Amino acid sequence: MQELYIKVPGTTDTSYKITIGSGLLPSVWPAVEAGFPKARLFLITDANIVAAGHLDTLLQGRDVPSYVIRPAGEPSKNIGTVVAIVEAMEKAYLGRDTAVLALGGGTVGDIGGFAAAIFKRGVPVVQIPTTTLAQADSAIGGKTGVDSSVSKNAFGAFWHPTAVFIDVAALRTLDKRQYRAGLVESVKHGLIASEEYFEFLERNLDAILARDPGVLETLASYNCAIKGRVVEEDPLEKNQRRILNYGHTIGHAVEAASDYTLLHGEAIAIGIIAAGLIEAELGLAEPGRLERVRTVLEKLGVPVKLPPNLAEDRLMDVMKHDKKAVDRWPRFVLLDRLGQVHQKDGQYAVPVSREIVEKVLEKLEG
Ligand SMILES: NC(=O)c1ccc[n+]([C@@H]2O[C@H](COP(=O)([O-])OP(=O)(O)OC[C@H]3O[C@@H](n4cnc5c(N)ncnc54)[C@H](O)[C@@H]3O)[C@@H](O)[C@H]2O)c1
Ligand SMILES: [Zn+2]
Repeated sequence: MQELYIKVPGTTDTSYKITIGSGLLPSVWPAVEAGFPKARLFLITDANIVAAGHLDTLLQGRDVPSYVIRPAGEPSKNIGTVVAIVEAMEKAYLGRDTAVLALGGGTVGDIGGFAAAIFKRGVPVVQIPTTTLAQADSAIGGKTGVDSSVSKNAFGAFWHPTAVFIDVAALRTLDKRQYRAGLVESVKHGLIASEEYFEFLERNLDAILARDPGVLETLASYNCAIKGRVVEEDPLEKNQRRILNYGHTIGHAVEAASDYTLLHGEAIAIGIIAAGLIEAELGLAEPGRLERVRTVLEKLGVPVKLPPNLAEDRLMDVMKHDKKAVDRWPRFVLLDRLGQVHQKDGQYAVPVSREIVEKVLEKLEG
């Protein structure tokens, strides 16, 4: 078991604990009860987590007020679900002395965190992530929210967890495609912050794909340390936090232009290769770096080229609507070298011409 502390931004001495282990779920409830001796606990999860047996493993026969999100996944990540959760909490006579536990992937964590943020002006949330994406990314950092009919995460709040429990054994039941796609954020963490971590990933890919618990614990602690440190430095995404968007400018556009038939991590894999190609155009490439990245992503079985049916003009159009666009053109996070993000005039997100992006997209065609 490993433990990390992350300082809550804007405060001097508040931090939250991340506990990482394999087979941790049965000990989570007593740990939360000990941490919140006076609180009443409310659990939020989704139908697939229940079916996979993780709710039973967590509760060990306890009868607790809870809300099960149905159907699981993005279609339920909307304000209607949040309303239903808040009303379920009221009907259970819960008050400001409540603590919420969110057991599931990024959708449960985002919905549960947001419900906790707004219930009676905010009650603590404990994140218990169960996907590779949530354990590496969404459970830490304090971003919570749900989608509107117009855009993703239109309703949201920064609401940091009070504690995070990462049980890598819960990943065993995750389907292969989700499992692999979620690992792309781990590759991203290595690229932006730690050559040592990237090399760890290269060396241990087979064990990672075999879901080896010991290797997955180490992977989780690298992810939490890297993302935690970035968020501590720049909680509100003024500059440095943008490095977490590596591969995401083109990646998000690919995800949207595929009408979300590509999973987030799959689209980001393409975006990471695109960033590598832009680096080559700008003279930022080190010999062999892009090939190493491509090899890791190919071994993960995620796409490294654009799907054949993706219209390039649609992609360019989506990029013009990027939420961080300046003059209707986004900025890009690029690498100087493995583990080190490029900066220009102190900024981590830098301009790249349309011509270069078009050229790179052509190279990315499958
Ligand atoms: N808050 C943030 O900082 C942040 C960061 C990245 C992504 N996100 C959000 O995260 C969401 C995606 O998260 P995700 O990829 O975890 O998707 P998800 O929560 O939809 O989970 C994927 C699928 O796997 C199922 N599942 C989850 N854990 C399982 C397990 N252990 N065994 C079997 N099935 C399991 C879920 O029910 C779902 O069907 C998106 O909404 C995205 O916007 C948030
Ligand atoms: Zn991402």
